[in-house]
Amino acid sequence: MQTIGVLISGRGSNLQALIDAQQRGELGGGRIGVVFSNVEAAAGLERARRAGIPVAVRDHRGLAREAFDGEVAEILKAHGVELVCLAGYMRLLSPVLLRAFPGRILNVHPALLPAFPGVKAQRQALEHGVKVTGATVHFLADGAVDTGPIVLQASVPVEPGDTEETLAARILVEEHRLYPEAVRLFAEGRLTVAGRRVIVR
Ligand code: GRF
Repeated sequence: MQTIGVLISGRGSNLQALIDAQQRGELGGGRIGVVFSNVEAAAGLERARRAGIPVAVRDHRGLAREAFDGEVAEILKAHGVELVCLAGYMRLLSPVLLRAFPGRILNVHPALLPAFPGVKAQRQALEHGVKVTGATVHFLADGAVDTGPIVLQASVPVEPGDTEETLAARILVEEHRLYPEAVRLFAEGRLTVAGRRVIVR
């Protein structure tokens, strides 16, 4: 069984998708052991509490990035976390956290990486006039944001009348489907990283 730590900063709809999948027995034996937020008011914390999942909050303000990440790593280790899932976690990770969980940090991003990394991925897609965008679940690599071996992707069409909100909603449906599936594949030991590629068995 894999103990999962989910890191959030806000709404937590992807966290909810993971909770729902766990409750349906669809996380391949994975179990969310703690939900951590750097934002006390994050709505997602309430989702965790409702599901009876322990929560931990630590404000990042006033702390150097490495010192803060050291504390986060300690909290996660104290809960026995083996897999870290970033779910709308609005902090860049320092090497301190990356090295505490090498090859064991997943992220979900609302675009087909490597296109449109960083913030406002939906706006970037609209501004570029792409006809297709989507969702990506990937491992975190050392270094830049929203890079690392890609586990799963799903595409969605960009419709002529789309706003950031309508496009984000269409992408979210795919995020909520992909993220639990990626976690399940990890928990079942079916993911092998080979350089930039993830082999799914
Ligand atoms: C999602 O679109 C995710 O891809 C991005 O931030 C958003 C978080 O939404 N990284 P939620 O907090 O999971 O509802």
